[in-house]
Amino acid sequence: MKIQTKDAGIFLVLLFFGIFFVLSFTTREDTYAFLNSAPSFECMDCHIGAEDYVIDIMLEGMPERYEPSKTYELKLIIRSDLESISDIKGGFAAQATAGELLEKDELNTQISGDYLTHTMEGNKYREWTIGWKAPQVADERVDIEVMVVAANGDYSPSMDAVGFETFRTDPE
Ligand code: HEC
Repeated sequence: MKIQTKDAGIFLVLLFFGIFFVLSFTTREDTYAFLNSAPSFECMDCHIGAEDYVIDIMLEGMPERYEPSKTYELKLIIRSDLESISDIKGGFAAQATAGELLEKDELNTQISGDYLTHTMEGNKYREWTIGWKAPQVADERVDIEVMVVAANGDYSPSMDAVGFETFRTDPE
């Protein structure tokens, strides 16, 4: 009888740790999502504390006037005086109001939901090659909207600089 109670006790302790282990694992997976991708424009909700740093965003290769259905290779570049203390340097999320954003560089960028964003590999950079396929009918002005984080590399959302920019192109 005594032994049985002890067994039950051990079982409960194991069960408790088991549940705790599973829970900690799920939470970790959730937060890892941000090193891995950030498919939203809400970076500023979490990444705060480095508002005094300069952050400039450029999109090289963006045409002033676009040709219908043409695929453009663009280079998204973040410049910031906020330096990173590790391999992790930054991330982004981008959307186009028309046409289609493409994964030109599958190692460092990915489509996730409605956004083009960085991958686990891609967070090591502050520049990424991205693709944009112009709409078939060139009858509208298109905005490519970009939200970026210049990371301080501490594996947390604190003390990272956030920037937003809209890049515009018109039909021929
Ligand atoms: C809901 C909160 C939240 C939002 C929104 C969010 N992040 Fe994060 N981000 C985190 C957390 C938490 C981490 C810590 C590392 C991890 O677990 O992924 C992080 C880490 C990062 C890192 C590494 C930071 C460092 O200093 O090491 C980058 C880069 C990053 N996020 C980019 C972005 C970008 C870009 C956006 C918006 C497009 C964004 N995140 C939106 C919570 C968020």
